[in-house]
Amino acid sequence: MKTLHLCGTPNPKQRAFFLSTAPHTAYGGARGGGKSWAMRRKLVLLALRYPGLQELLLRRTLPELEENHVVPLLQELGRAVKYNQTKRSFLFPNGSRIKLGYCELEKDVYRYQGQEYDVIGLEEATHFTESQMIFLTTCNRTVRPDFSPRMYYTCNPGGPGHEWVKRLFIDRRYGPGERPEDYAFIPARLTDNRVLMERDPGYLKTLQKLPEHLRRAHLEGDWDVLSGRYFPEFSRRLHVMEPFPIPAWWRRFRAMDWGYKDPCCVLWLAVSPEGQLVVYRELYVTETLSSRVAQRVRELSLGEKIAYTVASPDAWQQRGLPGAEGDCIADVFARNGVPLLPADNRRVHGWQRLREALAPGADGAPGLVIFPQCTELIRTLPLLVYDEHNHEDVSDSCEDHAPEALRYGVMSRHPRPAPPQSRPPAAYDPFAAAPSRGEGFRSL
Ligand SMILES: Nc1ncnc2c1ncn2[C@@H]1O[C@H](COP(=O)(O)OP(=O)(O)OP(=O)(O)O)[C@@H](O)[C@H]1O
Ligand SMILES: [Mg+2]
Repeated sequence: MKTLHLCGTPNPKQRAFFLSTAPHTAYGGARGGGKSWAMRRKLVLLALRYPGLQELLLRRTLPELEENHVVPLLQELGRAVKYNQTKRSFLFPNGSRIKLGYCELEKDVYRYQGQEYDVIGLEEATHFTESQMIFLTTCNRTVRPDFSPRMYYTCNPGGPGHEWVKRLFIDRRYGPGERPEDYAFIPARLTDNRVLMERDPGYLKTLQKLPEHLRRAHLEGDWDVLSGRYFPEFSRRLHVMEPFPIPAWWRRFRAMDWGYKDPCCVLWLAVSPEGQLVVYRELYVTETLSSRVAQRVRELSLGEKIAYTVASPDAWQQRGLPGAEGDCIADVFARNGVPLLPADNRRVHGWQRLREALAPGADGAPGLVIFPQCTELIRTLPLLVYDEHNHEDVSDSCEDHAPEALRYGVMSRHPRPAPPQSRPPAAYDPFAAAPSRGEGFRSL
């Protein structure tokens, strides 16, 4: 007889997670508490209990999904449940189904458009953006009389979704259409997981050795220390400026992060007489041929004197473009009247320079401002979060095409000179009377 290998006894927190029938239940906090185990087991128990139940289990990326769920589920379910590798779904003899998926890019959630799941599990929910989560709730519906739709979330603090998870489940701040009684939170602690504590006591020591803020987040499950945001200094109030006509004599340049399947972002920047960078235009396109992007860049720049365009190093990779085999993106751009220069791609250094540019200067004005029409840059810059493995860098799980372009742009400039530490009093300061900004430079 084919049997399931459902070993283990749930700890009290896992039991609480199993018993929750709230429309939204999150199990989160510290690392290693047994959240992923509980998520898998919960979906299997529901599949067995309700014949014909349709369930979807998502992680942000495919490798994470394979490692964390496909492999363990194959071991746990054995041959009692059929696994369809192409569809990544487990079909139970009673007609229930657990489908596994991932949403690496923001738009990947639309793969589930029109699909209907009684239960959706978001593993590492803080890796998902709020708009992905909101879209997925539209796929969480049922026509069954014996079941109400539910979303289950597991999560650790930090990540692009830190803010929405914290708002809904920790701070419990709700907006229109959100009912507090629909949200349940079960805090996780490593010490809840006796199995891991006994089999791998070194793991506790590993977490104890983390830097203070990460230790508090990952060991104690503290949601306040790790907002996760890479650029907390970015604020719309300070950095998004009402547009004004940029004088023709200001130096202008462009910066591009090339992408075809992933978005391609081009930013236009101007330099004020005080050295402030103004990002005044953005082009953000997907699946657009390089020749078309180059033409569009030229059209948008008509009448403007552009000093140079820096681009991501991948623009020089040979990629055998259809109809232009052997050409690289930079060649295509050059042929279409947009010569490119390779950007300085030192990541950590570049992010640091960007941080400096965002900081207010001696006159209180930041070194970089953005016009509101650069919507993708304004949307994605605050979503950047720290890389879990390299705490100086931005996580590569972020939608970073516009910020990358901005980093290239900033790196193409000289650093702003540091303000003098102290200045001897002068009878006459020729700079004191100089206007710090152009006319119309008002904060939005
Ligand atoms: N009740 C249980 N019985 C047996 N083993 C368990 C149980 N709960 C968790 N485990 C095991 O403990 C280990 C850690 O659990 P799990 O991966 O679920 O933790 P986690 O909270 O998801 O960790 P992370 O925060 O790193 O994602 C795994 O090997 C898992 O199989
Ligand atoms: Mg886990």
